[in-house]
Amino acid sequence: MKVDVLLGLQWGDEGKGKIVDVLTPHYDMVVRFQGGPNAGHTLEFDGQKVVLHTIPSGVFRENTINVIGNGVIIDPFIMLNKEVNQISAITEIKSKLYISEKAHLILPTHRLLDNANERFRGKNKIGSTLKGITPTYIDKTGRNGLRVGDLLLSNFQQKYNYLKNIHLRQIKSMDFDYSTALIDGLSFAEYELAWLQAAQELKSYHICATEYLLNKALEDGKKILAEGAQGTLLDIEFGSYPYVTSSNTIAAGVCSGLGIPPNRIGTVYGLFKAYCTRVGEGPFPTELFDDTGELLRTQGNEFGSTTGRPRRCGWLDLPLLKYACMLNGVTELIMMKADVLNSLKTLTVCTNYTYKGKIITEIPYDLSDDISPQYEHFKGWNNTIDINNIPAALTDYISFIEQYLNLKIKLVSVGRDRTQNIIL
Ligand code: IMP
Repeated sequence: MKVDVLLGLQWGDEGKGKIVDVLTPHYDMVVRFQGGPNAGHTLEFDGQKVVLHTIPSGVFRENTINVIGNGVIIDPFIMLNKEVNQISAITEIKSKLYISEKAHLILPTHRLLDNANERFRGKNKIGSTLKGITPTYIDKTGRNGLRVGDLLLSNFQQKYNYLKNIHLRQIKSMDFDYSTALIDGLSFAEYELAWLQAAQELKSYHICATEYLLNKALEDGKKILAEGAQGTLLDIEFGSYPYVTSSNTIAAGVCSGLGIPPNRIGTVYGLFKAYCTRVGEGPFPTELFDDTGELLRTQGNEFGSTTGRPRRCGWLDLPLLKYACMLNGVTELIMMKADVLNSLKTLTVCTNYTYKGKIITEIPYDLSDDISPQYEHFKGWNNTIDINNIPAALTDYISFIEQYLNLKIKLVSVGRDRTQNIIL
């Protein structure tokens, strides 16, 4: 069997949680391969809304095994106190969840460091979610990190104190006074205590070498869905660097983040919104600063599910989308939030850029350079969408995108509930 992959083709927040939840009945396992609690995957069903950060979105279906792979980074406090607490009110979780012993831990001091780094950058800040993502991945590649497997060692506390003290020295050198800083509303001392308790509790979960679990499952004919976090344009290699996250968000990250060989990758589902959003700093060529941008934000409820920050909104950018399809080897497209465009009479789409006096369709080295998007306009459907009688203007919009990308759109999401979809 193969691992199918579902990932975002824009700057994150494409609606991956909803679609993983829709696809889960077809899979035996749902697995996360990168990122951490910077992600916020929202699922809505039976009138309930749940936001997941680290735990895979397959957790609400009976008989689905969920795996947090080695490429993910885990904050035990967030995972247990924010996610597990929420999920446990709906379903039993422990028996369905496996955690890689090689996944790195986000320490309380990683969160302080994230904060200190952002302040140090001043106007050049990245707009991080302040969940400690970058400092944790720096410690991973710098070979200083602590992993989930370390929790099971007798000298864990010693290792923890050693790394914490390195971090505190770094923080001091940046003139950051952490004595007054709050982490999730708690002082550092309070947060650290709660974190250490959560870290102890994490030991009661299934912690194992998930690469064996997953490869054996494939040998046994099990179907696996890998759930991406963030989006392609936030990838550390190919995103709008340096305004990116610190992991490989693209399909290539599935192999290193799970221990799956490349020849085991199957279908790649690429998700994109019918328009574009971005949260945090960094270039966004088709960003709208007018009433239409505001309308997309309110109609689409475009506020970060992890941080609550308003998302920047703009028109669909096809050159960027094509780039993302190429990098990921997308085989099937899924268009999200088409209903957000319901009230628009005219739709606008970027089809190429002008850069240094020339028309280009490839993405330039620096997206913040002086590039001007060139647009084409379409008639809007300007009505609510009846999924049994798709408006002609929506069909035209879909066909244009399919032709541009040379790929088929298999599903169009037209609402937040798991049932509100057009299957094409
Ligand atoms: P970090 O991953 O918290 O370091 O944030 C780096 C950049 O990625 C910032 O611009 C964040 O707003 C953005 N980002 C991180 N995670 C997500 C996500 O799940 N959705 C959308 N943007 C994200």
